[in-house]
Amino acid sequence: MHKKVLVTGGTGYIGSHTVVELIQKGFSVVIADSLENSDITVLDGIEKITGVRPIFEKIDLSINYPTIELFKKYQGFSAVIHFAAYKAVGESVAEPLKYYRNNLNSLMNILEGMSVTNTPNLVFSSSCTVYGQPEKLPVTEQTPIQEANSPYGNTKQISEEVIRDFIHINEEINAVALRYFNPIGAHDSALIGELPIGIPNNLVPFITQTAAGLRESLSVFGDDYNTLDGSAIRDYIHVVDLAKAHVIAIERLADKINKSRIEYFNLGTGIGISVLECIKSFEKVSGKKLNYKIVGRRPGDIEKIWADTSFANRELNWKAEKTIDDAMLSAWNWEKNIRKIQQ
Ligand code: UD1
Repeated sequence: MHKKVLVTGGTGYIGSHTVVELIQKGFSVVIADSLENSDITVLDGIEKITGVRPIFEKIDLSINYPTIELFKKYQGFSAVIHFAAYKAVGESVAEPLKYYRNNLNSLMNILEGMSVTNTPNLVFSSSCTVYGQPEKLPVTEQTPIQEANSPYGNTKQISEEVIRDFIHINEEINAVALRYFNPIGAHDSALIGELPIGIPNNLVPFITQTAAGLRESLSVFGDDYNTLDGSAIRDYIHVVDLAKAHVIAIERLADKINKSRIEYFNLGTGIGISVLECIKSFEKVSGKKLNYKIVGRRPGDIEKIWADTSFANRELNWKAEKTIDDAMLSAWNWEKNIRKIQQ
């Protein structure tokens, strides 16, 4: 079987973990990444874990011509997993055109590349952000999409629509949109993990960087939410569990057992965890006391969300296996590894 998969954003956080799982399942991988928000040394980590160095193409996928040439160079792929996108919510509010231009042009160029080279299958990185603050929890795939609360979120909503309209007229192409909840943690080897550039926006890298001494203290954004301890609730999923779901999605499309031309899956654990519970988990597994303070709510944050994962569990025969403690420990081991911290 022709098993060459194009992974855009493959040196990024979720991308690199997915590349490892793909290689370990016998796929050959071509990574396309601009390296704007990731580092080429990620390839060393992937190679150390798997024994294979994936092919790497440095490319800005938002530019049409080189993207189409990339598809032609490899005479198409068996599938594309499209991770490459900007993802900082706050930055997208400040620079909306940057987000629309990059995230939407890249997707459209990839779809065009797929159609001109008869590449049949697409897995798209979507997000639970498409649900906004749902009225009823947990959220199923049928929960109504709400107006996006950031340009970033809007690019995910629009992308799902672009794919839907495109495959409508391109009957050979099938797609799966994976709606991630909050990916955290790192590979057990501590050889790859999340590598935020500058001050992290997301909770877990901020926690580990604070514990490593790079940040003075963590700000907990709000303790007056309508939750058990007052801090906001999310569904934190270990990035390796998430990565495995991508391989299953690729195999599902290859085996043609998908139930519709585009399918949507919630990828979470089904468990809601508060910010304060995250901190407790981190302190338990690391044995370190975290310096944190409660501050006001972060604008744009929702109060609580977690996934109903029953559809993904049943249809993909997939379930998140790792716990919040596993994820926190792996994130801490990764942080210690990159900062050369001993204990
Ligand atoms: C956001 C986006 C999500 C996107 C993800 C990746 C929304 C609704 N969600 O998730 O789509 O994929 O970013 O960039 O737009 N927190 C603190 N202190 C911190 C950092 C975070 O208390 O220093 C809290 C937040 O208030 C939140 C939780 O931790 O309650 C998780 O925050 P974060 O990791 O930034 O992810 P989301 O905002 O949930």
